[in-house]
Amino acid sequence: MLREKIYIASDHAGFELKEKICEFLKNKQISFTDLGTDSKQSCDYPDYAHLLASKMDSKSFGILICGTGIGISITANKHKKIRCALCHESLSAKFARKHNDANVLALGARLIGVDLALDIIENFIQTPFEEGRHIKRIQKIEAGL
Ligand code: RB5
Repeated sequence: MLREKIYIASDHAGFELKEKICEFLKNKQISFTDLGTDSKQSCDYPDYAHLLASKMDSKSFGILICGTGIGISITANKHKKIRCALCHESLSAKFARKHNDANVLALGARLIGVDLALDIIENFIQTPFEEGRHIKRIQKIEAGL
């Protein structure tokens, strides 16, 4: 893994997939912090996206899961230092790292299976940012409107 730690969070719709991902990270001895939710009881995805965003620093990656990955990624991207990529296949995850230096990965638990989710995560956490021509573009994202 390219960073020291992973923060992971989901809403109720992403809870079961989050549990499987935590098990996978544990087996791989990858350091992570599970920020909840803790059950399938209905909750609001923005609460978990904001919580995860508040913990993130340059040494961490984030993984956010909701039903589609849409609400939770929209919320995360409201934070200036977060570049959250919603990925439903592995190539997007690879390019989100290479070209966009994404630091948070969003997944839609109602749209993809566990094996695919884990492969997406592997691609995300193992792929370095290419830098070069992409640095200027990241700076333009950060500059805002
Ligand atoms: C919850 O029902 C669902 O709306 C949420 O998990 C997510 O898909 C929103 O974007």
